[in-house]
Amino acid sequence: MFRFNFNDESNGNEEKSNIEEDKEKDDKLEWFSAKRISKPLEDYNVSNITNDQTTNVCYCDVKIKLVDSKTAFNKLAKENCQNIIEAESQHSDLLPAKYEGGLKIWECTHDLARYLLEENILLKDKTVLDLGCGAGVLGLVALLQGSNVHFQDYNLEVIESYTIPNVILNCDKLDTVTKRCQFYCGDWESFVNLIGNDESEEYDYILSSETIYNPNNYPKLYQIFKQKLRKNGICYIAAKIHYFGVGGSIQQFEEFITKDGLFNIKTVWKSDEGLQREVLEVKRR
Ligand SMILES: C[S@@+](CC[C@H](N)C(=O)[O-])C[C@H]1O[C@@H](n2cnc3c(N)ncnc32)[C@H](O)[C@@H]1O
Repeated sequence: MFRFNFNDESNGNEEKSNIEEDKEKDDKLEWFSAKRISKPLEDYNVSNITNDQTTNVCYCDVKIKLVDSKTAFNKLAKENCQNIIEAESQHSDLLPAKYEGGLKIWECTHDLARYLLEENILLKDKTVLDLGCGAGVLGLVALLQGSNVHFQDYNLEVIESYTIPNVILNCDKLDTVTKRCQFYCGDWESFVNLIGNDESEEYDYILSSETIYNPNNYPKLYQIFKQKLRKNGICYIAAKIHYFGVGGSIQQFEEFITKDGLFNIKTVWKSDEGLQREVLEVKRR
């Protein structure tokens, strides 16, 4: 299956030149435009998913049932989904601008899910964006606590084969999903334009896990925070302190987000086990 290359420590000089090369390559990438997904929910055949194709996660007393990542992957490979097949053939979890890693649950998701519940973050009747949602665990935690949730992932195939089935599996009625959830795919840069300047579409919370690995994406993330976070809203970002091999880091992200003085950022949770992981809180000044 996939292998993720972020954790491989490399020599500092080698990494620096890789980052410069990556920046040049990144400038040439063509990112998919953002779209809202409006296919009827009845078309997602979740009744075909058997129990052995699912897995459960539990945070505090909130239990969530999820399609097993391998099952979602196999379905897409069978449907000849080229981005996923190419990622697998390269043993990689990341093919820039083609497949951005949404088809599995990343470690920091668990940190932020637990943080939200342990800290009793008030999620009832809030509007929440799960940004770079993958499986949609963070959005599901918010949905089950009474939020309305927008789920966003780069890949349409991830949203349709993984996120939407997961949301349906955790709601008693399709009507709940229709009324309280929206789904988007495509690049963050066009996402912010797609959702526009309507104040009623601003978010009380933006939740995002393992999305700061590529420094070239920081301007896109910044624009989403700037344009879509409500005045008293909060972004919670869960991340590893450094993404070896790809270049992003919490320090770089903090510097970028705070540089024009609109936002404050602070670490509200951290783990020192293994590679250090943190939860960051970003608020308007
Ligand atoms: C490493 S995965 C993390 C998935 C999930 N948040 C988790 O922690 O399990 C990174 C996520 O960010 C999204 N992403 C990365 N770059 C993006 C971009 N430029 N535009 C939109 N989404 C992007 C991907 O679709 C992917 O789901």
